[in-house]
Amino acid sequence: MLTVRRAREADLDSLVLLLRALFAIEADFNIDEAKQRRGLQLLLEDDRACLLVAETDSTVVGMCSGQVVISTAEGGSALLVEDVVIDHSFRGRGAGRMLMEALQNWAAARNVTRLQLLADRHNTPALDFYSRLGWQQTDLICLRTYIR
Ligand SMILES: CC(C)(COP(=O)(O)OP(=O)(O)OC[C@H]1O[C@@H](n2cnc3c(N)ncnc32)[C@H](O)[C@@H]1OP(=O)(O)O)[C@@H](O)C(=O)NCCC(=O)NCCS
Repeated sequence: MLTVRRAREADLDSLVLLLRALFAIEADFNIDEAKQRRGLQLLLEDDRACLLVAETDSTVVGMCSGQVVISTAEGGSALLVEDVVIDHSFRGRGAGRMLMEALQNWAAARNVTRLQLLADRHNTPALDFYSRLGWQQTDLICLRTYIR
């Protein structure tokens, strides 16, 4: 049976592997296991973040994360959703929907009024998945710079 729960430290090895699969799809991100592990650890330790896993038979098969940010547009809290990925062999079985619904419930309990995420414009399966879940595309594009 598929279940969703908060991630814990013992999940980190599985989550690093899932992120490897995700970042292999997204041209904007590089695989660096040490960085991914550190990022996951920070998410686990942060009160304003939620790291969820989907598991079946005690095996982690998917994950997603959310971080609360303050939005002046909302006059309140919004959730930045990242790290949405299901193990290849478990896709299409409802795990993605379960994770996103659980994250939405976590956010709703914190008075979050909007969830948002970035997706690779070429990742048609993911875009179709979000559309199926009722997410809408916006006119915004992503810009970034780095502090070295
Ligand atoms: C995108 C992804 C997270 C979806 O997870 P999933 O567990 O396969 O999706 P689910 O089985 O929960 O599907 C949920 C709904 O979306 C629909 N859906 C899922 N993938 C779809 C696709 N490729 N095309 C059309 N609809 C799709 C399902 O039919 C289902 O509809 P329903 O619940 O109304 O019957 C998963 O395919 C994945 O890990 N992809 C690779 C990583 C990735 O691209 N992540 C997104 C980064 S932004």
